[in-house]
Amino acid sequence: MEKSLIVSGMRSTGQLHLGHYLGVLQNWVKLQNEFECYYFVADLHALTTKFDKTEDLKQNVEDVVLDWVASGINPEISTIYLQSLVPETAELHIYLSMITPQNWVERDPTLKDMVKILRGDLQNEEKTSNICSYGLLGYPVLMTADILTFNADYVPVGSDQIAHLEISRDIARRFNNIYKVELFKEPKPKLTQIPLFKGIDGQKMGKSFHNDIKISDSEEETSQKIMKAITDRSRLRKNDVGHPNECEVVFDYYKIFAPQKIDEVKYECENAKRGCADCKRELCKYVNEYFKEIRENRKNLQANPKLVREIILNGSQKARIKAKEVLAQVKDAVKMYY
Ligand code: TRP
Repeated sequence: MEKSLIVSGMRSTGQLHLGHYLGVLQNWVKLQNEFECYYFVADLHALTTKFDKTEDLKQNVEDVVLDWVASGINPEISTIYLQSLVPETAELHIYLSMITPQNWVERDPTLKDMVKILRGDLQNEEKTSNICSYGLLGYPVLMTADILTFNADYVPVGSDQIAHLEISRDIARRFNNIYKVELFKEPKPKLTQIPLFKGIDGQKMGKSFHNDIKISDSEEETSQKIMKAITDRSRLRKNDVGHPNECEVVFDYYKIFAPQKIDEVKYECENAKRGCADCKRELCKYVNEYFKEIRENRKNLQANPKLVREIILNGSQKARIKAKEVLAQVKDAVKMYY
């Protein structure tokens, strides 16, 4: 039996952090064996908001791919490609844009949030030029094109992407209705239960919040960041008893990175037998151990830029084979000249 097909992408925003690893990449790695997977770097989507900040674009693309491959996305099994190197997607986007009612995109709540951030209504996010472009309005349509380029069955995403995906399903259905074909499947979300992974300040981990630990950080950088993490705010001295459940970051990290230690940590903290600094120092060790192999993989791959390029170019070439087939069917359905 043929494997179901999965498409998912990430905008090329640069080095990924531990939240990406735990929330997305681990899941992608697992899916590789069960599904035919297409994973792409959404560099065109990055342009929807950063069109005037392109100086890091090339480096960002490579950084994302380095993080992926180091984390176990295997280019021999999955197709890793760059969105802009599969121009069939951009072409499909045009056809889909013609049949997408304007108000469908205008009422997309996820897009509304993006526009708010862009205009600076929400604090704490990085701002670039505060214009909402025609291209940004088409964000969910381009995303639909990404998915329909391979006529995907499933799209692994976090819950914040569900609104976009709802539009994708509507567009797929509308295309079939208008052109009286049964070409597109309605892509289903494959929701990952992403437990909120906190940054060192207790807020959601995010690059623009300046509270993240990168996959590519050195052990020293990682340790320095962890040593700054907030702990139980009510505990001022080592002799005070601690409350692990109110230790927003450190105790939560123990649960993930050193689950074998949590009983001991809990007991010692609650009985004032371990101080916060010692506790964090020990945690640094576990976090660094957890990412040791991935970081080594990353370093080795980074030392071979030719290979990285090859992964991107070969994957994109491979993706185009399937993309061309689908695009031909689309043009045929629309009754284009050739
Ligand atoms: N919008 C997604 C995000 O911000 C990235 C993305 C673009 C995507 N195209 C996609 C995800 C297609 C899944 C499928 O995370």
